[in-house]
Amino acid sequence: MPFIIAIDGPAASGKGTIARALAAHFGFHHLDTGLLYRAVGAKGGDPAVAAQTLDAEDLARPDLRSAEAGQAASRIAAIPEVRAALLDFQHRFAAQEPGAVLDGRDIGTVICPDAPVKLYVTASDQVRAQRRAAELGADPVQMLAELQERDRRDRDRATAPLRLAEDAVVLDTSNLSITDAIARAVAAVDRARG
Ligand code: DC
Repeated sequence: MPFIIAIDGPAASGKGTIARALAAHFGFHHLDTGLLYRAVGAKGGDPAVAAQTLDAEDLARPDLRSAEAGQAASRIAAIPEVRAALLDFQHRFAAQEPGAVLDGRDIGTVICPDAPVKLYVTASDQVRAQRRAAELGADPVQMLAELQERDRRDRDRATAPLRLAEDAVVLDTSNLSITDAIARAVAAVDRARG
């Protein structure tokens, strides 16, 4: 049985960094599921068709990390047909030996509800805005508004909204260095593996 680590949390919480580090530490595969939604949003046309026909080239677009791509992703992510079209790929990814780390918004609640480790990575709005602004070379005030709008949409949508799974370990990275945040995540996984 492959081991699954499910990581969820709001934008720029540090979940991607933690997911990559865990995958490297345990020798697991890693899927940034946000990239799937970003690629669907960037592809244009009917979002459901874009999701059904998503290919490797779509995922390699250089513009997927922009704030605009994040907003577009959040908008199309509310469409149930889009989410349904991406289910199979995520399930197959999660079934790979020896294990997989998936990060997103609904991994522990919808995609892999039986994952033995669920992390909910979060940080204050201000810290997240500052991090994302530094990463993209953008204005922190504008970033804060953008992140809050995106979080609101991701939390309030009817299908697979961002929420804390009952059995998730919460990791607030507001006052943690990257090294400390990763160490805590590794410890949570080690506990679950016995
Ligand atoms: O993780 P990210 O910021 O790259 O995600 C971009 C958007 O995609 C996010 O605002 C909502 C959507 N998303 C989602 O609905 N479900 C996921 N599992 C991952 C991302």
